[in-house]
Amino acid sequence: MCGIVGYIGSRNTTEIIIKGLQRLEYRGYDSAGISVFDGENLSLVKCKGKVKELKNLLNSSPVNGNIGMGHTRWATHGEPNDANAHPHMSSSGLFTLIHNGIIENYYSIRKFLTGKGIEFVSDTDTEVLVQFIEYLYLKNNLSFAEAVRSALQKVVGAYGIVVLCKDEPDKLIAARHGSPLVLGIGEGEYFLASDTSPIIEYTRKIVYLDENEMTIIKSDSYEVRNIEEYKVISKEIQNIDYDLEQIEKGGYEHFMLKEIYEQPTSVYESTRGRIDLKKMTVKLGGIENWLTRILDANQIVITACGTSWHAAQIGSYIIEELVNITVKVEYASEFRYRETPIDNNTVVFAISQSGETADTLAAIRKARTMGALSVGIVNVVGSSIARETDCGVYIHAGPEIGVASTKAFTSQVTVLTEIALLLAQKKKLNCKMVKDIIRDFSTITEKIEKVFKQADKIKNIAKDFATSNNFLYLGRGYQFPVALEGALKLKEISYIHAEGYPAAEMKHGPIALIDENMPVLFIVTQRGFDKIMSNIQEVNARGGRIIIITSVDTKRCDEYSDHVIKIPAIHHCISPILTTIPTQLLAYYIAVERGCNVDQPRNLAKSVTVE
Ligand code: AGP
Repeated sequence: MCGIVGYIGSRNTTEIIIKGLQRLEYRGYDSAGISVFDGENLSLVKCKGKVKELKNLLNSSPVNGNIGMGHTRWATHGEPNDANAHPHMSSSGLFTLIHNGIIENYYSIRKFLTGKGIEFVSDTDTEVLVQFIEYLYLKNNLSFAEAVRSALQKVVGAYGIVVLCKDEPDKLIAARHGSPLVLGIGEGEYFLASDTSPIIEYTRKIVYLDENEMTIIKSDSYEVRNIEEYKVISKEIQNIDYDLEQIEKGGYEHFMLKEIYEQPTSVYESTRGRIDLKKMTVKLGGIENWLTRILDANQIVITACGTSWHAAQIGSYIIEELVNITVKVEYASEFRYRETPIDNNTVVFAISQSGETADTLAAIRKARTMGALSVGIVNVVGSSIARETDCGVYIHAGPEIGVASTKAFTSQVTVLTEIALLLAQKKKLNCKMVKDIIRDFSTITEKIEKVFKQADKIKNIAKDFATSNNFLYLGRGYQFPVALEGALKLKEISYIHAEGYPAAEMKHGPIALIDENMPVLFIVTQRGFDKIMSNIQEVNARGGRIIIITSVDTKRCDEYSDHVIKIPAIHHCISPILTTIPTQLLAYYIAVERGCNVDQPRNLAKSVTVE
C-alpha cells in the first residue's frame, strides 16, 4: 500500500527519492516524508498530504546527502498527520525507518518501551519498530544489522522496511516479510523500492527480495541474507520488462483515461502468441506442464479481491460453460479463513493485477498447504503471487497506474477465456463454440475502437448524472459481473453510492429504491434480451432514469430509456470485454464532472498489501 524508495550513490539523492515517490504515489497519498544522511545527522522532513506538499517543504528547507529514503503513506495505525507520516526517528536520533505493512504486536512492544522511559511522538506501529531497534542496539551493544535483525525476530506482522543508522551512515538496510521490496542495481549506486517504477529510469537490473530476507547495501556492494539464520543468499538478477513511457501519462489528463484507451493494445497483448487464428488453437506456456492436473481436477476455485474478483466471476461462467468443471469464486479475504474442502484434486486460480494483494497471497498459501495446485493470473511480472504460485499466466496488460483498475480487468477476462478455450480443446468439448470464440477474438481490437466512438455521448450522459447520489447497475448472465464492476468503478472514483445486481433480482428488493431520482444502468446483449427488456419496463413504469448499454440493434431500447449507448455485438462469452468499457468511461466522466481526483481517489490505494 505505502510507497517506499531508498537510494545510495552519488546522484542527487533527494531528487531521486522525490521522483520515485511521485511514481509510487498511487500506492498511498495521505502523507509523505524523506530522510537523508547529510554528512552529520539523519535529517527528516515529512508532512501530511501529497508528495507535492513535501516537495514544497523541501524547497524551503532542503536536505542533501548520498544516502536516503522516502515514503508515501496509506494510513493504517494513526490518522494521516505530520507526526504519523514516515520516516520515523528513534528517540536518540540514531535511526530513521520507513515501513509498509502492519506490526501486529506493536501495542505490547510499545508498552514495554514506555516502561523503559521511551517517549513516543506518533500513534503508529512503525515508530514502535524504530524505537525497538534503537533500544536493542543501545542495550545489547549491537551493530546496525544485528539490531535490525534482532528486532525483526521479535515483531509479528507484515513489513517492508528500509532503515538508516547515523552510526553506520554508509549503509541502507531493508527487509521484507509480507510487503514487497525490489533492489535496483546501478553502476556504483543502488535503489530500493516497493515496486520497479521508481527504478526503471536508472537501471533495468533488479533483485526481488523474497519473504524473510534482508539486504545490507553499501554504495559498492550489497548482500542478501535470510533474517532467521542470517545466511547469505545468492539472488538472481532479473530485468525490468517494460519501458518508461508505459508508466507516464503520454498526453492524457489521467492515467485512468490513458489505460481505458490502451485496451485495444492490452487485450491484444493478452492474446499475442497464445491464440493461433490460423490453426484455431490456444497455447499457454505458463500452464502447459500442469495441464493434466488441471484437466483432472474435481473443482476449480478462483480467488481474488475487488475488480479481479469480478473478472473471476466471468471466468467461472466461461469455464463452466465450455469445460463443464465446477468453478467456485471466493473472495480471498473470506477464503483464507473459511473451512472449505480443498485437496490435491483442487486447482486454485489466484487473480491479481498487482500480484501483491495480501488476502489473495494468503489464499494461495493456504490452498498450497492443503495440497491444491495454485495458478496465478497476474499482471505484474515477478510479483509475490506470480512467484509463489506453482504456475500461471501473465495477463501482459502493461503497467496499470490508475487506482481504478480498467485494462487489467479486460485482460484478466481475456486470459480466463483463453484458459477455458484451452481446457475445452483438450477435453474436446464444445468444439464449435470454441472456434466461434476464437474467430470473434480476431475482431476484438477493432470492436473496442468502435466502443470508443461513443465516448462523446458518454461524456454528455455523465453531465446529466453527475449530481446523482445513487446508481443501480443491472445485468443478466455474463453482464451481471459487468454490472458489479461498473458500480464499483463509479463508487471508487466519483463517491456516488452504486450497486450492481442481477437484473431479475431487482424485484426482490432494490425495486423499492426506484423513483425519478434513481438512475438505473442496464447492460443488454442478445442473450436474455426479452427477459431484461421486461426488467427495463419495470423500472420505466416506476419512473426510474434509464441508461442502456447494448449490443442489440433495436428501437425497443430507445423506447424505454433516457440514453442508449450502442456497442458492437460479439460472442456472448467475451462480450464483457466490450460492455465493460462504456461503464469505465461513464465512471471516469462523472468523476471528472464532479471534480474528483480520478487517479488518486480518497482512502484508496492501488495495491492492498495489508489485511
Ligand atoms: C479496482 O478498481 C480496485 N482498486 C480494487 O478493487 C482492486 O481490483 C483490488 O484491490 C484487487 O487488486 P489486485 O488485482 O491487484 O489484487
